[in-house]
Amino acid sequence: MEKVKPLSVLVTGGTRGIGRAISLKMAEEGYDIIAVYRNKDLKIKELSSKINGMGRTCTLYKTDLTNESERLKLIDELRNSNVQLKALVNNAGLGRSETLDSVDIESWDKVIRLNETVPLLMARDLHNLIKDGGSIINIGSLRGVIPSTDLLSYQASKASLIQITRALAKTLAPKIRVNSIVCGWIRTDMTKGLHTDDNMMKLIESWTPMERWGEPEDVSEMASFLISNKASFITGQGFVLDGGVSLLKNI
Ligand SMILES: NC(=O)c1ccc[n+]([C@@H]2O[C@H](COP(=O)([O-])OP(=O)(O)OC[C@H]3O[C@@H](n4cnc5c(N)ncnc54)[C@H](OP(=O)(O)O)[C@@H]3O)[C@@H](O)[C@H]2O)c1
Repeated sequence: MEKVKPLSVLVTGGTRGIGRAISLKMAEEGYDIIAVYRNKDLKIKELSSKINGMGRTCTLYKTDLTNESERLKLIDELRNSNVQLKALVNNAGLGRSETLDSVDIESWDKVIRLNETVPLLMARDLHNLIKDGGSIINIGSLRGVIPSTDLLSYQASKASLIQITRALAKTLAPKIRVNSIVCGWIRTDMTKGLHTDDNMMKLIESWTPMERWGEPEDVSEMASFLISNKASFITGQGFVLDGGVSLLKNI
């Protein structure tokens, strides 16, 4: 009898930080993993062997998603591989420190492209590979909801991602559910400057009602719930995952 191929979960930025935790969690749930990354580092091999050790495959694609010809090559390869997706997780993202006086067009375009345009294009190009009952998950940020004087393009891109999530949910229902996870401070390379500074680490902890930093695994648990059948009536939503920090007036 022919063996049924397991469904795959594609995670952009799937080898590091939040994306890595999502790749591992989805493998644990029984899915093959397709992880898109840009910079090779030693931990990629370790991730692959961990996933293989769970009896799942880990297919790695080195692609700069902001480079359209590289991104289209990835799409072509995925289509030719006959892969069937349970979920697309748009996780790859980038933040730039920018105030009103320092923001410039190059930096703005780069952030908007990766955080906002790429998730939309990935959904456009891959939704036909997602099985009925599958999901798209967009990794958003509290900075898409709560303004600050810094990170201007990041804020704009993440606010837009919440609305893109809603529009895609309407477009792709009932076949595919689309949700976003709106993260507060999570301990990854992106926030290294904060959590490796003892004072900032403690300050953020003290602001957070749950009295700790978020971990990548907090996000992967939520992602796992959202793609599961337990969430089969949930679409178009943005779930804040922040230890309660958004309950404060002034963050
Ligand atoms: N950490 C937080 O506190 C926090 C809070 C709110 C939202 N988020 C969101 O969570 C997501 C993951 O962030 P993280 O904290 O895990 O950050 P991270 O550790 O800096 O990881 C960023 C990921 O994006 C990938 N990436 C960056 N530019 C790329 C490009 N041009 N093409 C392909 N991949 C690219 C990176 O790939 P390489 O490893 O190959 O460079 C990496 O996997 C982002 O969307 C971020 O905005 C994070």
